[in-house]
Amino acid sequence: MKSPVIILGIESSCDDTSAAILSDRLLLSNVIASQSVHQAYGGVVPELASRAHQQNIIPVVNEAIKIAGIDKTDILAVAFTRGPGLLGSLLVGTSFAKSFALSLGVSVIDVNHLQAHVLSHFIADNPVEYSPPRFPFLCLLVSGGNSQIVLVEDYNKMKIVGQTIDDAAGEAFDKCAKVMNLPYPGGPFIDKLSKEGDENSFKFAKPNISGFDYSFSGLKTSFLYFLRDEKKKKPDFVKENQAALCASLQKTIIDILMKKLILASKHFKISEMAIAGGVSANSGLRKAMVEQGEKNRWNVYIPKLAFTTDNAAMVAMAGYFKYLDNDFCDISLPPFARIVI
Ligand code: KG4
Repeated sequence: MKSPVIILGIESSCDDTSAAILSDRLLLSNVIASQSVHQAYGGVVPELASRAHQQNIIPVVNEAIKIAGIDKTDILAVAFTRGPGLLGSLLVGTSFAKSFALSLGVSVIDVNHLQAHVLSHFIADNPVEYSPPRFPFLCLLVSGGNSQIVLVEDYNKMKIVGQTIDDAAGEAFDKCAKVMNLPYPGGPFIDKLSKEGDENSFKFAKPNISGFDYSFSGLKTSFLYFLRDEKKKKPDFVKENQAALCASLQKTIIDILMKKLILASKHFKISEMAIAGGVSANSGLRKAMVEQGEKNRWNVYIPKLAFTTDNAAMVAMAGYFKYLDNDFCDISLPPFARIVI
């Protein structure tokens, strides 16, 4: 096997076009073009996302290669997000990855976007501080489309032990933000406003379901009805209580997430605990992980902010571990909107 293994990662599952270069585990570049076009619509518009990927993919890949300081002929494999995600968006990254790999005469590696989020913990962007989780570990994977507890036994061996039965945690943040007239995506705005409010101001419904599964639709409805009733009494209720509403909502979401994670840690007798995905950028969730870590003697792994939202560095990382296993894909493999770990 050639050493180092230089991998190009391509991510295009939703509304971020990203390309990254890894040299073994060392990150040489990670370029992300985010799409602001969706803000006006309060959510991602699939057709617009695909078009923006088409425009962005070549400049983003060129930039990633340039920043990495390599020649494209140094690349040994191209890893791409195969799914889950928006099909039109995935098609752009998949088609580009295959064509580019064919032109270079190298292999293609299909990557599961969710596994990539988990494996972002193994990216060495600063080799001096490198201390990834040890197997087996539990990863709370929370994004706009997913809320799962993943049991990670090895780089390429993971199992979902709990997941949402309806909405994802990110969706709860975003949809509740929308009813408060906050911009899309609402998660970061709720996070910011929460810092100025009292998290014990209001109480919202928490689900009562068995096992390690999650549910967020009841919370969303209870939030919606609460605002509707309060606004009838006082039209400016949301404006006057924005920070307190955000803080109370954020606390409720974090309590729901942490309760099942603590339960899973006890059940599987695992104390290596990680978080990943877009919602893992949330400052309250990060704090809660540290607090629970101290309380339960966990080793806690919190990703750098750059690796929480969609990025190609994690795709290249997942591709690297499949490369080591000689796990390449056929050039005819189509993308999938929905696949499980
Ligand atoms: O992983 P991600 O970039 O995209 C996928 O869903 O794949 O996650 C996006 C989600 C959105 O719901 C966004 O509101 C949420 O992550 N998010 C946050 C924060 N930053 C991003 N939620 C709460 N607090 C944040 N700081």
